[in-house]
Amino acid sequence: MSLCLCGEKEQMTSFILNDTLVESSEPEGTVLLDIIRYKQHLPGTKIGCREGDCGACTVLVGELKPLDSARGVSVEYRSMTSCLLALANVHGKHIVTVEGLNMEKLSPVQQAMVDESGTQCGFCTPGFVVSLSGCCLSREKITEELAVRAIDGNICRCTGYKSIQRATAILAVQFAAKDVQDPIGWSVENGFLPSYFTDIKDRLRALAGATDNRRPTTDNAIPLGGGTDLYVQKHDTMHHAAIRSVFNDETLKGIHIEGDEWVIGGGCVANDLLASKELRDHFPNIEKHLLLVSSTPIRNMGTLAGNFVNASPIGDLTVFFLALDSTITLSAIPGTPGLTRGRNDRTMKLRDLYKGYKQLDKSPDEIVTSVRFKLPGKNTRFHFEKVSKRTHLDIASVNTAIRLEMEGDTIREAHVSAGGVAPIPKYLASTSAFLVGKPITHDTVKAAIVVINKEITPISDARGTAEYKRLLLRQLFFAHFMQLFPERCTLNELVA
Ligand SMILES: Cc1cc2nc3c(=O)[nH]c(=O)nc-3n(C[C@H](O)[C@H](O)[C@H](O)COP(=O)(O)OP(=O)(O)OC[C@H]3O[C@@H](n4cnc5c(N)ncnc54)[C@H](O)[C@@H]3O)c2cc1C
Ligand code: FES
Ligand code: FES
Repeated sequence: MSLCLCGEKEQMTSFILNDTLVESSEPEGTVLLDIIRYKQHLPGTKIGCREGDCGACTVLVGELKPLDSARGVSVEYRSMTSCLLALANVHGKHIVTVEGLNMEKLSPVQQAMVDESGTQCGFCTPGFVVSLSGCCLSREKITEELAVRAIDGNICRCTGYKSIQRATAILAVQFAAKDVQDPIGWSVENGFLPSYFTDIKDRLRALAGATDNRRPTTDNAIPLGGGTDLYVQKHDTMHHAAIRSVFNDETLKGIHIEGDEWVIGGGCVANDLLASKELRDHFPNIEKHLLLVSSTPIRNMGTLAGNFVNASPIGDLTVFFLALDSTITLSAIPGTPGLTRGRNDRTMKLRDLYKGYKQLDKSPDEIVTSVRFKLPGKNTRFHFEKVSKRTHLDIASVNTAIRLEMEGDTIREAHVSAGGVAPIPKYLASTSAFLVGKPITHDTVKAAIVVINKEITPISDARGTAEYKRLLLRQLFFAHFMQLFPERCTLNELVA
């Protein structure tokens, strides 16, 4: 540990970069990409957009995760875009860049890219190689679909995707032989990864045991989740900003049932929701819905709380949870003088958080610790729709979700939300109230559209005119009913 000239302890962020322990005294808001390239002089990780869109800067981030009591802990790796990843968020973790995958001869992933001509100028190639190598490390059986999904955040501007898809298909066959109980051992044994990977678990354990000498919270520090909004919006100022990262806070993670409610930590990311088997059982279409949200690396980084507090009028997760009639818990940011987590908590409906465009009923020293909603039952119907200019990796023009509780053919309870049609992510209170007690008929749906049109106030912008957004929401509202009640609602009748 070193001292600054002022005599204060110097702040250190410690992590393992490939095979090397790094102790960095750079500001915690510095993005990892700059550390990798300009401090560690590893230029394989490329800079493209610096906005999380292109995947040229993709790294794998490994962290210790508990398995079950018999098997202890393992290192779980996820791909992330290093251009949006704050140094604070990699403390105690293992970072893998393309250099960290190199061995004496090409790995099967690198070889497949060569054999199938998956690289031309080569700029995007490290990102693709890193993302695909992540497939060796996951604990799931890799199919071709999953291998393609692993590279959904990587863009190639010159080779075209066919050759990369061919390389991916070849690799998917090889990944199928992976030992999902011991993916690291299997990958090292089969030449997919260098042998140093086998020691990483013990090295991370040793790092976790070391003293965390990072600075405590300063007043007015900005809560930082995955940084996927903050670093896009305030890229230039975040480097030196006072931040309080909650990304590594385990108390903000976890998905579980409490009584008759699901409780999900505010620090959970979209891919945590996808990974939860229990949640998937309750929401059979959750994969279809969440795959419309950003890309794999961003779904590994962007938290629920970040989505809620960013208060974008088109936040997908916000619209999703508004229709679940969710309640959030706000707690004191750790380290806030005079405030204690638990004692000073308050709860509110998610819909009440929004007071106006980017105006929240939340003080700067409060963080969103969890979101909860009633368990869906056999009479629950839930659906989410999103339209954007591209199907994937694009923000919504309009999105909407609906939750209905049915009693026979009658709606007993309704919650409808929509994004892109008001200055805030909108809970459609009048429409929801209107639907209660109504039967599922074409007339009900058409009459609800009249109510919707009275409570939305879309504006014309880059994502479409106000009229277009009204029309879109009408179509998506029809889609809810056509998907949930295909035997009762048809497009022909709805537009008649
Ligand atoms: C390439 C790309 C694609 C994207 N695509 C989509 C998309 O398809 N749909 C979509 O909805 N969004 C999308 N986003 C936006 C973003 O990923 C999400 O809004 C994400 O959920 C933000 O979470 P975060 O943890 O990264 O937030 P951060 O950037 O860390 O923070 C956002 C705001 O929330 C605050 N905050 C963070 N955590 C907490 C907390 N626990 N309590 C209180 N305040 C907190 C921060 O102070 C900040 O004001 C995309 C972003 C990128 C870069
Ligand atoms: S530089 Fe494009 S995603 Fe990071
Ligand atoms: S090989 Fe040139 S951008 Fe992909």
